[in-house]
Amino acid sequence: MARVLTGIQSSGKPHLGNILGAILPAIKMSNDTKDESFFFIADLHSLTTLRDSDLIKENVYATAAAWLAFGFDTSKNIFYKQSDISEVCEFTWYLNCFTPYPMLANAHSFKDKSDNLSNVNSGLFTYPVLMAADILMYDANIIPVGKDQQQHVEMTRDIAGHINNVYGEVLVIPESKIDINVMTIPGTDGRKMSKSYDNCIDVFLPEKELKKQIMKIITETSSLEDKKDPGKCNVFNIYKLIASEDQTKELYDLYINGNFGFGTAKKMLLDLILDKFSKNREKYNYLMENKNLIDKELEIGARKAKKTASEVLSRLKNSLGF
Ligand code: ADP
Ligand code: TRP
Repeated sequence: MARVLTGIQSSGKPHLGNILGAILPAIKMSNDTKDESFFFIADLHSLTTLRDSDLIKENVYATAAAWLAFGFDTSKNIFYKQSDISEVCEFTWYLNCFTPYPMLANAHSFKDKSDNLSNVNSGLFTYPVLMAADILMYDANIIPVGKDQQQHVEMTRDIAGHINNVYGEVLVIPESKIDINVMTIPGTDGRKMSKSYDNCIDVFLPEKELKKQIMKIITETSSLEDKKDPGKCNVFNIYKLIASEDQTKELYDLYINGNFGFGTAKKMLLDLILDKFSKNREKYNYLMENKNLIDKELEIGARKAKKTASEVLSRLKNSLGF
């Protein structure tokens, strides 16, 4: 049986792009397989950039609540937060001692920030080693990640290969799984929806605030009577990713016939989100008001994860002579 493992960084509140691009496909994959999936919240990684303890806590809850609100099955899978398994820090140290400096200096995650080195802490520099520990500590075989994380999985393979060369088959060499079909969800400004661009739609917001985000979607200036090109409109491009075929066709026709304003299109998008995600919104809000339920889920997951982690850690320590 293959073991599937992936981490979700809790660097903010999950937005529509995260939901459609990562959460839903991962849940589907975990439902479609007999394999056991390890999904965890990478909160230690978020400390490389976040400095607000309340925010760190809140992001963990929001991330966990989103996964649970979209139906991630925690009875079949293992759902935990990285910081609950403190073994990962010890494991990281051992891996650090087998990680060549030039490999880390070559990581895109570091290189992207290396023009301002005074802002780079060593946690950010060794970020890929913590990620390697996340993977190797669970004997994981398959790592579903976005293209931007592929290099980190390659590094994980190199570090594990290096240790195995010296000490025998101690660690399982994982493989990344990149889903090339994952679509890029556009944000309110038409660029990729991302926390870093402030162009997100947060489907869990109260209606009034959600409406504000949707009204912010950038559209071209044209008069009401003009016929409009749906393919060029950010509202339509988001709408079609959520709507049924019939609903999409209906909006398409309204655009090409003219006498239809973007304000109405935005209102239709708002109604669609409220309708389509009503159960998920309800569950999310319920969990965020009853955080003890989230704590309980994560506690159960941590207990299961810790068992595997401590076994693999012991195996590695034995091999290294500790
Ligand atoms: P952000 O860019 O907002 O910081 P992350 O890098 O934390 O998002 O992404 C978390 C997960 O969500 C990743 O698997 C990533 O591929 C996916 N994701 C993020 N934004 C989008 C998007 N606009 N479209 C599709 N998938 C996305
Ligand atoms: N670095 C990953 C990201 O930003 C999150 C992550 C941390 C991860 N540890 C992992 C992903 C282990 C897969 C496996 O998206």
